[in-house]
Amino acid sequence: MVATVSTVAYLGLEARAVEVQCQLVPGLPNFILVGLPDKAVAESRERVRNAIAAIGLSLPPKRITVNLSPADLPKEGSHFDLPIALALLGAMGVIDAETLSGYVVVGELGLDGRTAPSPGVLLAALHAGGQDMGLVCPAAQGAEAAWAGQVEVVAAPDLLSLLNHFKGTAALSPPQPGIIESPLRTADLRQVKGQEVAKRALEIAAAGGHNLLMVGPPGAGKSLMASCLPGILPDMIPSEALGIM
Ligand SMILES: Nc1ncnc2c1ncn2[C@@H]1O[C@H](COP(=O)(O)OP(=O)(O)O)[C@@H](O)[C@H]1O
Ligand SMILES: [Mg+2]
Repeated sequence: MVATVSTVAYLGLEARAVEVQCQLVPGLPNFILVGLPDKAVAESRERVRNAIAAIGLSLPPKRITVNLSPADLPKEGSHFDLPIALALLGAMGVIDAETLSGYVVVGELGLDGRTAPSPGVLLAALHAGGQDMGLVCPAAQGAEAAWAGQVEVVAAPDLLSLLNHFKGTAALSPPQPGIIESPLRTADLRQVKGQEVAKRALEIAAAGGHNLLMVGPPGAGKSLMASCLPGILPDMIPSEALGIM
């Protein structure tokens, strides 16, 4: 039986779908990884082997083949550890592969089975949202992934708690979107003396998202008032914040 788990490969600011396929066949015990893995991905075998040992399981004495499909797309980064581990556990029958079919999985694994952050989780979350799938990622990146909005995020601190989550024994609580650092304080509209009409126009423009044209002689306070605008703009909603990222 071939167990498959979805993940992504990052190409610049784009996330491309990658399927991790794992099959166990009788033969000399071996663990082979194919599908254009770079050095970090190839080393994933050792991290996965040890992480699985850390949860008290040993690899079956069979020929284990993991393929990263599409095979001609170069795979870079350490985020393939977790999907490879889950595909392998699926092939071993430890975890139900069906449960995993609705998730895109990314994350690095430590030798002790803990998950570690790797760059690009927000891209993976947006990709998962586009495919109507959920996302499995390291706990440290849950807050970042939750910014993607309508995506079910499972943020796991380690492999064991992820298995328990999917078995239904101990559910992981969904992460909340991280807090945006408040922007540098700009000029305050209170320091503008008089100019009641101009201030009112500024407020209406900020509230309604309108354009604004300022006309006046040099020194009339145009630049000062323009610099006050960011301070009275409403907070960005997540999709706007992602748009200017
Ligand atoms: N209504 C006002 N209240 C407080 N300071 C003002 C006001 N109008 C102008 N100033 C001050 O005068 C200076 C020139 O204003 P500025 O905004 O640069 O003018 P503009 O861009 O229209 O040429 C700035 O130091 C500004 O702080
Ligand atoms: Mg000016």
